[in-house]
Amino acid sequence: MESELKSVDFLQDIPVKELICSALEARKKAYAPYSGYMVGAAVLTNELRIYTGCNIENASYTPTICAERTAIAKAVSEGWRKLKAIAVVGSEQGDMVSQYAFPCGVCRQVIREFAGEQFIVIVAKSESDYKIYRLCELLPESFGPENLKSERKL
Ligand code: THU
Repeated sequence: MESELKSVDFLQDIPVKELICSALEARKKAYAPYSGYMVGAAVLTNELRIYTGCNIENASYTPTICAERTAIAKAVSEGWRKLKAIAVVGSEQGDMVSQYAFPCGVCRQVIREFAGEQFIVIVAKSESDYKIYRLCELLPESFGPENLKSERKL
């Protein structure tokens, strides 16, 4: 495993391999007839539930939704708003995942909305080949719900 983290204490209750395995399964469902790029994601809620998603493209292109946001929409729409981690796998069509697929900027911001302080992003090629980051490394100095707290009614 290649890790970018200095301390792994907070990884203790994160089922890294199960998340990657779930993301790999979800990737098989990707609807990507235009780009041919298939992505799967699996999010872990604070309650340790896993929700998965794939990218879903559209003939009109812009309505395309990324795998990460599909998974997050599923979790949040089922009532789970506090997320701990996400695993992402992406690669061109085919069974092999040949590259690390990092979440796009829009997905990073959407993850940020529901992420706990030590949110973990796992970018994987397989269950044994992955990199781990904190969200704050991938989206430093971010804007989030706290900035609008006085305005917000949850
Ligand atoms: N895609 C994702 O699913 N997640 C990302 O973070 C980046 C890109 C998808 C969107 C589109 O269907 C395909 O990958 C090519 O951009």
